[in-house]
Amino acid sequence: MGNGYKYVAKPLFFHVNPEVMHESMTFIGEQLGYRSFPTSLFSSIFSTSIPSLEQDYFKIYFKNPVGLAAGFDYGARLTQITPSIGFGFQTVGTITNKPYSGNPRPLLGRLPHSQSLMVNKGFKNEGAKAVIKKLKKKTFSIPIGISIGRTNDPDLTVKESIQDILLSFASFERAKLSHSYYELNISCPNLFGSMSFYPLHNLKALLQEIDSLHIQKPIFIKMPISETDQHTLAMLDTISNHSPKGIIIGNLQKDRLAKELVPSEVALYKYGSFSGKPTFQRSNELIALSYKHFGRRFLIIGCGGIFTPQDAYLKIKLGASLLQLITGMIYKGPQVITQINYGLHALIEKDGFRHIEEAIGSDIK
Ligand SMILES: Cc1cc2nc3c(=O)[nH]c(=O)nc-3n(C[C@H](O)[C@H](O)[C@H](O)COP(=O)(O)O)c2cc1C
Repeated sequence: MGNGYKYVAKPLFFHVNPEVMHESMTFIGEQLGYRSFPTSLFSSIFSTSIPSLEQDYFKIYFKNPVGLAAGFDYGARLTQITPSIGFGFQTVGTITNKPYSGNPRPLLGRLPHSQSLMVNKGFKNEGAKAVIKKLKKKTFSIPIGISIGRTNDPDLTVKESIQDILLSFASFERAKLSHSYYELNISCPNLFGSMSFYPLHNLKALLQEIDSLHIQKPIFIKMPISETDQHTLAMLDTISNHSPKGIIIGNLQKDRLAKELVPSEVALYKYGSFSGKPTFQRSNELIALSYKHFGRRFLIIGCGGIFTPQDAYLKIKLGASLLQLITGMIYKGPQVITQINYGLHALIEKDGFRHIEEAIGSDIK
C-alpha cells in the first residue's frame, strides 16, 4: 500500500496544483464518507484495534492517539471518512465567526526536499454559521474537535477580536452539536494585522472571557512554536490559571531560516509559513519543556513533522498523550496513520511498557 502511494499516486498527485489537489481530495473524501461500501472497505484495510493505544481523557474515548490536525478539513466535510482511514480523532477548522475567502494566492505550496508545505490560507473558511449547519446533521464515530480562531480582519482590536472569538464559541455552544472538544487557535502565523494573543495581558483577557462562558467540553490551546522557552512558559503559566485543559504543540514554522528548510524552496514563496519536518524539532523541545514544568496539568497533543512511528513515539516519550498530523499523510499517503499506530504499539512493547500511558513523558526526568 505504501509503495503504491509512493510510486503511483504521489507522483500523479504532486503534478497537480496543491490547492486543486486538496479540494479534489476533500470532495472525493466527502462523497466516499456518505457511502457504506467504501467506508467499510477502508475500515477493513486501515482501521486498527490496539488495546495498548486506547485512552480516555475528560470522558472522551480515543481509540488511538493519531488525530487529523486543524487545517485539512476547514468545512467539516471529512468527518465521516477519517475514522475509516484509521484516525483516532479529528479537528475541524480553524473556523472563524465571519467567513473568509483566503489570503492572496498562492495559499499552498509543496517543498518536497524540505518535507514541508507552505501554508498561507489565513483561515480560509465558510464561517461559524455555515459550518454549524453542516455539523448539525452529523453524528461521529471518533472524537471531533472544533478549532476556533479570530476572524482574519486587520482592523479588529484586541477587544473586538475577543468578542469575535466569543461569538463563535457561543454559536457552537448554542447549536448543541455532538463534537467532543474545542481548540482555541491563538497561533496562526498567516493572519493580517499586528493583534496578537502572545502578550500575556491579551492572553489573560481572552481566557477570562472564555472562562465566563462555562463551556463543559474541554478546550485545548493551539500554541505557537515561534516563541522563546521563557515566553512559552509564561504563556503556559497564564493558561494554567484558566479553564483550558490541554495544549497542542504546535502550529506552523514561520522562521524561514529553520535548518530543515531548503533555501531554494523557501525562496519560491514570498508569504506563508511551513509545516512538516521544519516544525519537528521545535515542537519536540516545547513538548518536553511543557511536560517538565507543568506535568499532567495540561493534556499535551504533540503536532509537527510526524512522518514515522519513531517520530510519533518521540513526542509521546517527551510528554505528549495524543498526536496530530497533516503533512506526513500528504507525503507518505493515508496508510501512514495505520503504520504509525502499529509501529507505536511495537515501540511501546519493545521498551517494556504495557500501555501508551506508561510511555508518556518517560524521557523527561
Ligand atoms: C494546509 C494546512 C493548513 C493549516 N491550517 C491550520 C489551521 O487552520 N489551524 C491550525 O490550528 N493549524 C493549521 N495548520 C497547522 C497544522 O495543524 C499543524 O500544526 C502543522 O501543519 C504541523 O503539523 P504537520 O507537520 O503534521 O503538518 C495547517 C497546516 C496545513 C499543512
